[in-house]
Amino acid sequence: MQMKKSLIAVALAFGAAGAAHAANDLKIGMVLPMSGPFAGYGQQILNGVHLYMAEHGDKIGDRKVELIVKDDTGVAPELSKRAAQELVVKDKVDILAGFGLTPSAFAVGPLSAQAKIPMVVMNAATSSVTEKSPYIVRTSMTLPQVSAPIATWALKNGIKTVYTVVADYGPGHDAEKQFVKTFTAGGGKIVGEVRTPVKNPDFSPFLQKVKDTKPDAVFLFVPAGEQGVAFLKGYKERGLAKDGIKLISTGDLTDEDVLDAMGEAAVGVVTSFHYSEDHKSPENKAYTQAYYKAYPNKRPNFMSVAGYDGMHLIYAVLKKTGGDATGDKFIAAAKGMKWESPRGPITIDPETRDIDQNIYIRKVEKVGDKLQNVEFDVIRDVKDPGKQK
Ligand code: PHB
Repeated sequence: MQMKKSLIAVALAFGAAGAAHAANDLKIGMVLPMSGPFAGYGQQILNGVHLYMAEHGDKIGDRKVELIVKDDTGVAPELSKRAAQELVVKDKVDILAGFGLTPSAFAVGPLSAQAKIPMVVMNAATSSVTEKSPYIVRTSMTLPQVSAPIATWALKNGIKTVYTVVADYGPGHDAEKQFVKTFTAGGGKIVGEVRTPVKNPDFSPFLQKVKDTKPDAVFLFVPAGEQGVAFLKGYKERGLAKDGIKLISTGDLTDEDVLDAMGEAAVGVVTSFHYSEDHKSPENKAYTQAYYKAYPNKRPNFMSVAGYDGMHLIYAVLKKTGGDATGDKFIAAAKGMKWESPRGPITIDPETRDIDQNIYIRKVEKVGDKLQNVEFDVIRDVKDPGKQK
């Protein structure tokens, strides 16, 4: 409480708490991991943000959009908090955006609530993130939202016993809880559950345990990136695949950002997710073409799309409010907003400020000379089940 009071005092002293700026620029303060093991998150989100601005101009009405990016290095909530405080107090930003990982969004939520600053979450996917401030709106996904559909798919496809392996923090806990709930409600059995360290996990002992238990499948959530590559490598090397233990996961595992690094080992892995580079729609065709033109050496992924859609949200809201980005006006305008994203149709849920969207079931296949998450089923307009009490 003491912390909170002093934060407000500082904000007021600097005239930052929602006060008008001398200049008319729309300042967006971005808190992102730009270095360290999660630097790819920041890069992908910014790629999406910049692409949107390149296509739609850097002015909304008469307000010029200015981005200020601060690196929070990944899982370092105290750095995220300090970065956001500086953005609010010193830079006097109108909007906070970005947030690669849940601890970062958790750390900054209370500041958004107190300063009444809109906070656009472009990745962090623990269900409860949006409850940390009434001024948060999310354009990525939630782990319960993408985990329930793969549990249902498993039940329909003869998988009766599952061992769950999840990263030991918010999104992992959410993924585990929802997977277990949906899978057991449909008659499936959980034969083991393990939580792995968020930082530098060594998967070998966990993989051995799973192998010895012989489940029909292992359900995995680890934050997108190198951890998934390491897990898949161990899964193949230790012979789990050969033993007939299937690997199912949320699409974080087969993220296009690391799919090439996984190589053939990824072929056949079934996941559920809200975005695939391979998604067939005119909007995604345009998006992926523009992305490759702008960034020939990167592959468009779900984080880039959340950054792109996050900017769309900001532009659309400001058009609706006539340029007013103050917290209450911003959030009122954002609630219920719908548009066609490269991922498919999306809605900002008016109750939760989270995103309602299609979740696709995909399988990794070679398409031409590239590995792709090829969608073969869809569950339409999924709300975050994590919010349903
Ligand atoms: C998160 O920390 O919320 C997070 C990170 C990476 C993911 C999903 C969620 O792939």
